[in-house]
Amino acid sequence: MSRIVFLNGSFLPSEEAKIPIMDRGFLFADGIYEGVGVLNGRLVDNEAHLERLERSMREIRIDNPYSRAEWTKLEEELVHRNGMNEGFLYLQITRGVAERDFFFPQNVAPTIVMFTQTKSIADAPAARNGIAVITVPDQRWERRDIKSVSLLAQVLAKQAAKEAGAQEAWMVEDGFVTEGGSSSAFIVTKAGNIVVRPLSNAILPGITRQSLLRLSKQDGIVLEERRFTVEEAYDAAEAFLTSASNFVVPIVSIDGRAIGNGKPGPITQKLRQLYLQMASEPAIAAE
Ligand code: PDD
Repeated sequence: MSRIVFLNGSFLPSEEAKIPIMDRGFLFADGIYEGVGVLNGRLVDNEAHLERLERSMREIRIDNPYSRAEWTKLEEELVHRNGMNEGFLYLQITRGVAERDFFFPQNVAPTIVMFTQTKSIADAPAARNGIAVITVPDQRWERRDIKSVSLLAQVLAKQAAKEAGAQEAWMVEDGFVTEGGSSSAFIVTKAGNIVVRPLSNAILPGITRQSLLRLSKQDGIVLEERRFTVEEAYDAAEAFLTSASNFVVPIVSIDGRAIGNGKPGPITQKLRQLYLQMASEPAIAAE
């Protein structure tokens, strides 16, 4: 059975879903996206993802064609039609199809695409064993708070990581870690406190980050919301990343230096368990 995708109001086999070459997403990366984790057939943190989607659309001035309830219904139908139990739901909106010209086209409907990717998140080897990261310069634009489909800097950063035998790149600006190529970056101090960069235009407001901070607070873990340097990360007791497609993943080395004892740390493992528990429970109101 072929994968069923969503394109502009219709559910159809992925081979039949075609987008014209004049789509502004293709020509200008003039669009935004979202990605939602799926566990036990349910969308994880979906309300918060849809809230960020609405914000991204407002920021780049694309009218939102659907209410939050309508989005949810479409997402759930896509998951259902693909018989999906665990993985990732991708959603993209571009400014639509028009003759190539930088100015916004008039009276053009946005292009809306959704597809699913089946993958193991709860029992992924990376989550059990931890991953290696390298640091690279952050070469992105200044509105990283918008979930733009313009991801060339991240593609290059993550490819550099792969070629260095690592699984993620931590991007660095003025000596401070901003975030991962496709994840939020955390360290744990020797005192057991979590350190994470505060929200600003310099990073994407990660939804998994937001939930994780709520869970760690409930668990009594002390949070230091501040920037941290690469040197502080090398010397940290633990490090980890969060994202909708991986939840919480331990980092066991940075630039070839072992973090802590080089194994997934206890606080990271505890947070991963708390997150998995939250994600497997029936929807609970966030904050
Ligand atoms: N990436 N920072 C960046 C730059 C990201 O691309 C992502 C997510 C995150 C984590 O955000 P969230 O917890 O909301 O997934 C942080 C997605 C998974 C991707 O591009 O595939």
